[in-house]
Amino acid sequence: MILNFGSINVDLVVPVPHLPRPGETVLGGDYALLPGGKGANQALAARRAGSEVILAGAVGRDAFAGIALDLLRRDGVDLRLLRVVERPTGCAAIAVSSAGENAIAVASGANASARSEQVPDEFLVAEAIVLVQMEVPRGETEALIARARARGARCILNLAPAVPIDPGLIPAIDLLVANEVEIASTGYEPSELARRLQRGLVVTRGAEGAVALLADGSRFDVPALPVEPVDTTGAGDTFLGVLAASLDGGWDLEDAVRRAGAAAGLACLARGAQTAMPYAPAIAAATDRLPRTGSANGG
Ligand code: RIB
Repeated sequence: MILNFGSINVDLVVPVPHLPRPGETVLGGDYALLPGGKGANQALAARRAGSEVILAGAVGRDAFAGIALDLLRRDGVDLRLLRVVERPTGCAAIAVSSAGENAIAVASGANASARSEQVPDEFLVAEAIVLVQMEVPRGETEALIARARARGARCILNLAPAVPIDPGLIPAIDLLVANEVEIASTGYEPSELARRLQRGLVVTRGAEGAVALLADGSRFDVPALPVEPVDTTGAGDTFLGVLAASLDGGWDLEDAVRRAGAAAGLACLARGAQTAMPYAPAIAAATDRLPRTGSANGG
């Protein structure tokens, strides 16, 4: 079972020929209102990959909540720990360029009201994987990590967006997953950071694939699925959700990272975050197409 504590947004997506520079206005195509938010995206990706998923977060009492929760409900993500508050549902303004790159500004709204205490202790069991990101209040995420560790649950932290974390909490985290910019924001050198974690660090590198640096000093690389991206929004979230689902399903870490990387590639092939997320059969077929690279020690 995966317990995900995180953000829930509506994404207002505008296709543009290129991403606007500071001070520039760019004319784009028709906008779309799509479900998003790093927490909700990762929950849906894990669910589509085959796990039972509970999502704890917060939405407003507004029409955007219906859009934000639509695909989660349809695919059977468990929303019993959701909180409805008197603030607007979170909203992300996303410009997507014709090269598939994006620029995102998030109005947190109801996400700022998400609280660790929404997750009762009974859900923080040794069989659970607790999945968290940094789009709800940092102190609440840190409180949940500490509680999860104390009760024996494994904890996966996606350090996105890059927000400082309490260094004292790092040893409570099983796996930390982040891109190179997010890791640099911690001030740690990657292999030093890996040694402080329970299991290690997975660095996502976009079209370059991913590298895992483990706490015991070993490492392995996983290539990316070669794709022509349409929209990379949510690819990282797909990686996280499928990684968590694969560990939950009993895959070893290297195979779990391979499934996650293959799924993230597939998620770049259509517009939107959740709308582009693959289901288990497509993930399995794409994973079979990834070449194998060697593992090495001493990283
Ligand atoms: O990671 C992509 C997500 O970041 C978008 O869905 C947007 O809502 C922001 O949270």
